[in-house]
Amino acid sequence: MPAPNSAFDPVEVVAALAPAEVARRRDEALAAVAAAADLDALKAVRLAHAGDRSPLALANREIGAQPPQAKADAGKRVGAARRAVVEALTTRQVELEVERDARVLVEEAVDVTLPWDRVPRGARHPLTTIQERIADVFVAMGYEVAEGPEVEHEWFNFDALNFRRDHPARELQDTLFVEPMGSGVVMRTHTSPVQVRALLERDLPVYVVCPGRTFRADALDATHTPVFSQVEGLAVDEGITMGHLKGTLDAFAAAMFGVGVSTRLRPSYFPFTEPSAEVDLRCFVCRGSSTEPGGAPCRTCSSEGWIEWGGCGMVNPNVLRACGVDPDRYSGFAFGMGLERTLMFRHDIADMRDLVDGDVRFTLAFGMEA
Ligand code: DAH
Repeated sequence: MPAPNSAFDPVEVVAALAPAEVARRRDEALAAVAAAADLDALKAVRLAHAGDRSPLALANREIGAQPPQAKADAGKRVGAARRAVVEALTTRQVELEVERDARVLVEEAVDVTLPWDRVPRGARHPLTTIQERIADVFVAMGYEVAEGPEVEHEWFNFDALNFRRDHPARELQDTLFVEPMGSGVVMRTHTSPVQVRALLERDLPVYVVCPGRTFRADALDATHTPVFSQVEGLAVDEGITMGHLKGTLDAFAAAMFGVGVSTRLRPSYFPFTEPSAEVDLRCFVCRGSSTEPGGAPCRTCSSEGWIEWGGCGMVNPNVLRACGVDPDRYSGFAFGMGLERTLMFRHDIADMRDLVDGDVRFTLAFGMEA
């Protein structure tokens, strides 16, 4: 509180404490309180109209210097005005807090029914799933899964597999060679080099299945792709016969296409097998009925009753020898299939490009397949 007002100025004091002035200051403060739209604004109003430097607080300081009669009167009026302001502030504070809490409840509400999984999920590519499926079928028959490099040496890709030096498959228009020319390194043209690696790396007997990516100098169109996939099978043991090969292929076909879907072997030629055969699959849709008199035409096998699936044969003794296996004691069978082709007829896919485009809408259709 200031010291008693020795230099008494009746005009000024009267002005600050005059009933009309006190009432004006009070009304000003009450109007400001009423106009405060939010808690921040109310805080500023509190400072301006109820703070230490507010007009009513400053007027209050003058009361002590009044003559006793005027002091009591001014004290009552200023006190009442200040209480009215504080009361209005308290009421408005409560109102604004209630408003704020209601707004926060709306603005910060969490809608637990909104979808939380906003990143669309992809699906595994059918080439991946079919490779795993094939691996499962063969692992269940006691095979191991073997792998080899995609960038392969010619010796594994051709020489050890009994391709002669002048075999047409070794030419530039079929095979992708790795620079510099003459390096002897190629992008593997088939999964058969994994046969050689498996025989060199493993102890006999060998039962392996080898799914993987392969490469050829082809342009991409509806039925060709320069990067494709194959699965290779190899069994080398004592006493292996073509009967074992046929039985294994039938079991493979049934596991992939349904019970009762068998295979047929047609004589053929591959450098690494002798004898060699083409593997045909019994059409798993019409099961041959489209070839019978009066049978409905079949789109899957073009009413042939059979679908070309891959190649196979008994491992050529030259291959066994190249891998250090005694052909007088051991024999073996091998087979190889293209996986894109397998998927195409299995799922009625007309264009091979759908398999390489990487469009998630295509892949999603296979999303449910384990
Ligand atoms: N490697 C052959 C190809 O790419 C497929 C093949 C045929 C694999 C006969 C074999 C086989 O293991 O015995 O066309």
